[in-house]
Amino acid sequence: MKNDFINVALPKGRLGEKVYSLFEKAGYPCREAVESSRKLVFENPEAGIRYFWVKPSDVAIYVERGAADIGAAGKDLLLEYGPDVYELADLRTGICRMVVAAPKGFSDDFSGTLRVATKFTNIAREYYRGKGRDIDIIRLNGSIEIAPILGLSDVIVDIVETGTTLKENDLEVVETIFPVSARLIANKSSYRFKNAEIRKLAEAVGKAVNQE
Ligand code: PRP
Repeated sequence: MKNDFINVALPKGRLGEKVYSLFEKAGYPCREAVESSRKLVFENPEAGIRYFWVKPSDVAIYVERGAADIGAAGKDLLLEYGPDVYELADLRTGICRMVVAAPKGFSDDFSGTLRVATKFTNIAREYYRGKGRDIDIIRLNGSIEIAPILGLSDVIVDIVETGTTLKENDLEVVETIFPVSARLIANKSSYRFKNAEIRKLAEAVGKAVNQE
């Protein structure tokens, strides 16, 4: 692919559409990117931008390896996978929090090993290591909330946005681990070699974020 574009990895879904609209406001429009349903790569040569849609959990991989110059990824995924990228800006969207949740009334009596179901195994391990608590991690890929209901785990470590999923499954937040929002990230060598272009974009996107 031609190299004078800024290649942007967008997370497929609602968050990606929100991020795209920030880029559009920042002067990098490419309407087709949000209007076409199956195509994955879109470019606007005048604006020097190329967008592609990838699975949210893959954005950081594309950026770390330089297949994308920049991208938008949740802080949850950045902390879980620890990619070697620059974090350029907080996009202040995709806001949620990483929590420990459990069936209503649960309290950890510190007896035995705590069974923790999660997609975020590194975050969970780190969090409980900091507390000196022995845990058994049960790695799941989704619908984490069902684990304590079926007795597969005592607690879950997961993201909560509105709280509806927890509520509808009789679970509650035990503790918030950290707040989450989407971040603009950049490949380290792209940031060096396309420095002026990327900084210009990051500044314009930052302004669009401030106008929200
Ligand atoms: C996430 C998270 C919770 C839900 C929280 O799931 O894992 O299940 O959103 O949102 P709420 O607080 O607004 O109810 P996601 O939609 O990513 O699907 P998943 O089950 O595959 O994790």
